[in-house]
Amino acid sequence: MGFRALLIEKTDQGFSRRLVERDIDQLPEGDVLIDVSFSSLNYKDALSATGNPGVTRNFPHTPGIDAAGTVLESSDPAFSAGDQVVVIGFDLGMNTAGGFGEKIRVPAGWVVPLPSGLSLEQSMVLGTAGFTAALCVHKLEAAGMTPDSGPVLVTGASGGVGSVAVMLLAKLGYEVAAVTGKATQHEFLKQIGASSIVAREDARAGADRPMLAEQWGGAVDTVGGEILFNAVKGLRYGCSLAACGLVDSPAIPASVLPFILRHVNMLGVDSVQLPLEQKREIWLKLAGDWQLPELDALKRPLSLDTVSDAIDKILAGEMVGRGLLAHG
Ligand SMILES: NC(=O)c1ccc[n+]([C@@H]2O[C@H](COP(=O)([O-])OP(=O)(O)OC[C@H]3O[C@@H](n4cnc5c(N)ncnc54)[C@H](OP(=O)(O)O)[C@@H]3O)[C@@H](O)[C@H]2O)c1
Repeated sequence: MGFRALLIEKTDQGFSRRLVERDIDQLPEGDVLIDVSFSSLNYKDALSATGNPGVTRNFPHTPGIDAAGTVLESSDPAFSAGDQVVVIGFDLGMNTAGGFGEKIRVPAGWVVPLPSGLSLEQSMVLGTAGFTAALCVHKLEAAGMTPDSGPVLVTGASGGVGSVAVMLLAKLGYEVAAVTGKATQHEFLKQIGASSIVAREDARAGADRPMLAEQWGGAVDTVGGEILFNAVKGLRYGCSLAACGLVDSPAIPASVLPFILRHVNMLGVDSVQLPLEQKREIWLKLAGDWQLPELDALKRPLSLDTVSDAIDKILAGEMVGRGLLAHG
């Protein structure tokens, strides 16, 4: 059975990308063979496609950490041909051929049944980025954040994780302050729920100061670096920040002062190895109380023919919303 896939190959000049015909015999061993209808573009896919060894070590390789589609065959009784399913994280698209191919084969332990209330397409407009935004909000609320805590800062707000976080927090009744480097996207951010906009350079200001004025009732950080720790220094007493990304920097110019003077928390968020049961819980929320009726506003349609350009765009920090890859 042949199918199309984006293949990344290691060459003397670096890493090349081309569309190829593959055969299912070239897929890794696994319990569940899936006909992929949709994938999505995440920052990590761009790192994989450009040979970042922290993401992918074995080439040739097909990226795509997200996939949603229909089971073709399953050796595990939990799934049958025809089931609609979602796979995000674990090793998909890292060293296991991912959703930028029209078929994947994966262990049953990576597969979540598509929750009723979400279409395959909606599940991938969300994808890992949207799931991670929800996981950040879930963890912040478990730490005590409520709409009364104060405005919530979202960094990298026009990107994948950021835009879903803005939309979800606004839906849940939070006042959202959106940090963006894109002067052209203020209107978009307000449309999806931001109450105020913070220019990226303003979010960086004060990095040399030990503490900042108490402002934020919570924060979702997707960028790391100075912006992350400025947000921690600006949290109100007892409030929390969820850290999930590093597009600016994995390093943090930190001190213990905000922790010991303001009793604040910095929470780590990982969508990749999160146990399947907890993944399912977050998907059920996104299909239920946390469903986002305006999700289409974030959708940026892609195909296997256009995803390569979008990879360059996301690496340059220029992507807005969520790239949805539809297989023909
Ligand atoms: N922990 C996890 O499980 C998990 C899951 C998903 C993603 N992530 C991480 O979260 C981050 C965001 O992923 P994504 O898919 O949302 O990427 P994305 O769509 O590219 O969004 C990142 C956004 O950050 C902003 N930005 C870019 N470069 C920046 C810089 N140098 N300094 C400050 N802001 C910058 C831009 O938004 P503005 O122009 O609006 O500022 C950009 O759109 C990545 O680091 C990714 O690896 C982690």
